[in-house]
Formats: sequence, C-alpha cells, structure tokens
Amino acid sequence: MAALTPDNLERARAIVALYPKARSALIPLCHLAQSQDGWLTPEAMEDIAALVGVTPAEVRGTASFYDMLHTEPVGRHVIAVCTNIACMLGGAYELLEHAEEHLGVAVGQTTPDGEFTIEEAECLAGCDTAPCVQVNHRFFGPLDAASFDALCARLRSGELAGEVPHHGTLCRVERAVGLLAAKGEREGDQR
Ligand code: FES
Repeated sequence: MAALTPDNLERARAIVALYPKARSALIPLCHLAQSQDGWLTPEAMEDIAALVGVTPAEVRGTASFYDMLHTEPVGRHVIAVCTNIACMLGGAYELLEHAEEHLGVAVGQTTPDGEFTIEEAECLAGCDTAPCVQVNHRFFGPLDAASFDALCARLRSGELAGEVPHHGTLCRVERAVGLLAAKGEREGDQR
C-alpha cells in the first residue's frame, strides 16, 4: 500500500502552509492522496494525520463522511448513476440494473479487472440530461443501455483517457502558488 510519495509529501507540506491551522488542510490533503492512488490508503491517511496533527482515525472518520472520498479501493473508473427524481423518471433504475448486469457486479462493487466501480448517487445536478451518470465526476447523459455499454467500451479501451483521468484526479492543473498563512499563527496552532 502506498504512503504519500516524496513529491506529494512536499506538495502536502506546501498545502498545509496555506492555512492558519494545519488541520484545515485535511480535506485538500485527502484529495491529494486520492489523486495519487485513486483512493485513500491507510498509509496515506497516516501521513495526512502526521501532517495536520490529528490521529489516523480522525482522518478516516472525516474522509468516510464524504461521498467523493474513498477509504476502500475502487476501480479506475467510478461510475455514479443518479437515481433521484428526474433521473428515476428518465429510467435511472433500469439503467442501474443494466449497469450491474453488463459489468457483472452490484452497486458498491468493483469489477475483477479493477476497471469499474458502480455507485448509486443522489442528484448530481445534471437533471437536464436524465438519466445522468458521472464517471470520475465527469458528466455523461442521458444514457440508455446501448449508450452505457458503448461508454464502458470507450473507457476500457482508453479512448476517453484524455477526458476522464483515473479516479481521484480532480484537476489536471495543480495549484503552484498561494498566499501562505502567517508563519507565527500557523506554528501557534497545530492542534
Ligand atoms: S435528479 Fe439526477 S441529476 Fe438531478
């Protein structure tokens, strides 16, 4: 299992330095770790805990609260199918059932080849394209069974790699500058 790489440790320290209180960097560091491995490994959570001055259990407790953060391994592509009202009326449950059948795994599970994880999602704010699907937080829709299968094939082949980077990548352009928090204040409150 992967701890933060030396590069990411350096980046993590720079992120912590942006905040008056180190623990305020907890969520950004979780996203950094998730962009490294696609999910939050126990080792990365230990690194984050040490960086922001909390326990690994507190990191896990915080991360597990948020749908966008994963504390268990997921596939390279996390497919989230919205089943809220607009999407439900547009056939979301039928699409979700088809997705399970097509990929051979149930909601919450990952295909044996590590390519796909299926999730059921609350409203993704894409109601105008119901039934709406996100893959690694990129929007697709409306989808039916045929277009879902075609999308999976394109993802599996790598054809959409430029559009849909591996799970955990929120942004390809990483922030390199920022206003550093006042050093005195930061050192005075590492709780
Ligand atoms: S109800 Fe599905 S995106 Fe809003």
